[in-house]
Amino acid sequence: MSAEQRAPVVLGIETSCDETGVGIVRGTELLANRIASSMDLHARFGGVVPEIAARAHLEAMEPTIRAALDDAGLDLDEVDAIAVTAGPGLAGALMVGIGAAKGLATARDLPLYGVNHLVGHVAADVLSGEPLELPTIALLVSGGHTSLLLVRDLAGDVELLGETIDDAAGEAFDKTARLLGLSYPGGPSIDAAAVGGNSAAVRLPRGLTAPKDRERHRFDFSFSGLKTAVARHVERAEAAGEPLATADVAASFREAVVDVLVAKALDACAEHGIPRLLLGGGVVANRRLREVAVDRCAAAGVALRIPPLDLCTDNGAMIAAVGAMLVARGDGPSPLGFAAESTLDASVVQVVDA
Ligand code: KG4
Ligand code: ZN
Repeated sequence: MSAEQRAPVVLGIETSCDETGVGIVRGTELLANRIASSMDLHARFGGVVPEIAARAHLEAMEPTIRAALDDAGLDLDEVDAIAVTAGPGLAGALMVGIGAAKGLATARDLPLYGVNHLVGHVAADVLSGEPLELPTIALLVSGGHTSLLLVRDLAGDVELLGETIDDAAGEAFDKTARLLGLSYPGGPSIDAAAVGGNSAAVRLPRGLTAPKDRERHRFDFSFSGLKTAVARHVERAEAAGEPLATADVAASFREAVVDVLVAKALDACAEHGIPRLLLGGGVVANRRLREVAVDRCAAAGVALRIPPLDLCTDNGAMIAAVGAMLVARGDGPSPLGFAAESTLDASVVQVVDA
């Protein structure tokens, strides 16, 4: 039997936002990655509605667990441990996953690991088949977070260098799409609207990049000023009775977001002398972000890692991957009484307090 075959089988549950994710891994081998999204239910509100997300998790949980076990060709008896997102995320949504995980762990007498969602995004990369080289800078960009991490050791040494002080990057796409009359989720619709647009047509601010921001907010992000600038631009065009050049505005907005994300990530690589950058989160689906990251990383001599998209967006496999790593290290489970922590710090890989 090879080492991988003996590695622990871990089932991971993720419910921090609007995806019900259930993944199964054996060590660093991906066996299943099932996702049920409630995105369509939020579309008419232009953003995730926490109560609706929690309810949808409740309905999707059991069928998604069954589907993941089917995909892996496993019975619940063959699972060695359960891992679940303890935070950060929407409290009500997290509670549904944690409740399900506790139920499974108790019924089957399995060890339960309450783990960090952000660390999960980084751990997703180990499932892509190539070893993750550490230390690395990680840029995590989704509808719920925009975080820049310094990861020295996945199982215990993760430092938050900076994060958004207002909107998350994906949230900025969603809100700006609404301003432009485009559909939710905003990322893909802005990407589509930007085709053929001139990204230099509208001058838009790059949040927290002024020299005065360097001291306190060097690695933090701010997107609300950008959103407001787009709103002003739309209002001016309307007041002047001019047609809105949607492609130009979409391309200029996207460029402003991408520019700041990549510039700050590479600044972190330079500051810490780490020539590696890992991307994660749903915004990685953005073609322009990937293009700019590839070009600028090559120019800076930084090795860029981008896991496959279904491992970048929120998923249960990345949570299982963190669990498998903790089991492999011989770390004990979390106490069964642990609670959802909507603002869990990036440095806490596993919750150990009830
Ligand atoms: O990681 P993810 O699936 O989960 C949550 O945050 O729940 O990310 C979803 C976010 C949304 O805000 C969506 O607008 C954004 O990722 N997104 C994109 C693109 N595709 C999805 N943002 C920019 N460009 C895209 N192509
Ligand atoms: Zn996420």
